[in-house]
Amino acid sequence: MAKSDTAAVPVKGSKLMVIGGASLVGSATVDEMLARGAAEVTIFDNLSFGGRPNIAHLEGNPKVKMVQGDILKLHQLLRAAENMDGVVHLAAFMTLNFDRDPWGGIDVNIRGVQNVLEACRANKVRKLVFASSNAVYGYGPGVKGDLVENTPFHAAGAPPAAILYGSSKIMGEQLCRDAHRKWGQDYVILRYSTVYGERQHYRAANALYIVETHDAIKRGERPKVIGDGSETKHFVYVGDLACANCMALEAATTDVAVNTSGPAPITTLELVNLVAELSGRPELKAELVEPDPTKVRLTSGGAFEIVHRAAKDAIGWEPQVSMREGLSRLLAWRDASLKQAAE
Ligand SMILES: NC(=O)c1ccc[n+]([C@@H]2O[C@H](COP(=O)([O-])OP(=O)(O)OC[C@H]3O[C@@H](n4cnc5c(N)ncnc54)[C@H](O)[C@@H]3O)[C@@H](O)[C@H]2O)c1
Repeated sequence: MAKSDTAAVPVKGSKLMVIGGASLVGSATVDEMLARGAAEVTIFDNLSFGGRPNIAHLEGNPKVKMVQGDILKLHQLLRAAENMDGVVHLAAFMTLNFDRDPWGGIDVNIRGVQNVLEACRANKVRKLVFASSNAVYGYGPGVKGDLVENTPFHAAGAPPAAILYGSSKIMGEQLCRDAHRKWGQDYVILRYSTVYGERQHYRAANALYIVETHDAIKRGERPKVIGDGSETKHFVYVGDLACANCMALEAATTDVAVNTSGPAPITTLELVNLVAELSGRPELKAELVEPDPTKVRLTSGGAFEIVHRAAKDAIGWEPQVSMREGLSRLLAWRDASLKQAAE
């Protein structure tokens, strides 16, 4: 890990851009930047997955600028990155979208990252925070135990779309390192674990356990768990990640990749039963079902934990929000959104 005095970009008073800012993580990150006193925040997004509802609460805020643009169109990025002090890059295809459209995933997750780096270089953007994923450790039977930053990638026995996603994030990370070596681009890579929180979507395979469970409970049905429910998942609350993105900009650290995971892992059975309990229907216990071979399923080889100790050393970050608290916030947001939609 390298440290330099020049790599710190204080959020307060800076002009910042969040690429893919109309996303789950992006909308929370923009909120956090504004709370920390950013001078101006540009949301750059083509609105292909995330949408205006995610950023509707920011409309009319004089410090927020929306640029509807595509990271595959370099000229749009070059223009949007003018005068930026720091950039957080979030736009990406995840596993389920890779499954539907591999070309789209390859373009956005690889060429798109290089375009972002080129735009940073051309505009002398001081620091880039790149959203990577614990998918860089892979999936399938090889994934177990403590996952630390030098844990190798496991592909055997995992669904192709998950491996395409994980390997595309490895490529994105290497492009950041390459830019640091070639022109001294300062960057921090954050390897998010599965994100959950307000403005939760249906695009992340692991977080489907939360939203589909809540949907089933709303219908008065028992939620479904694939297999025996002993599989580990490790989530992180979206507000904690918004802080991590800001802290990565503000830290003097550069040229580093760290895990940003929640306080502790959980099994799918524990998770689904917790959602039922917090939804006020603890009697709707999970029903164990066989996997559907037509759907992508993310498995591991046993219990694992995504260790986030290095994030504390590198950027001073550690998760603050417990799964119970974060889920309560997510469910309250979903209940309010569903009620509003019904009115
Ligand atoms: N959600 C998770 O569980 C999770 C876990 C680990 C890592 N990550 C990573 O975190 C980041 C954010 O995740 P999220 O769940 O908030 O994402 P999301 O799917 O909500 O948003 C991605 C955003 O990128 C935008 N986008 C896609 N292609 C684009 C393009 N060509 N040009 C401009 N914008 C484009 C979409 O419109 C969307 O707003 C991603 O990089 C993802 O890989 C997410």
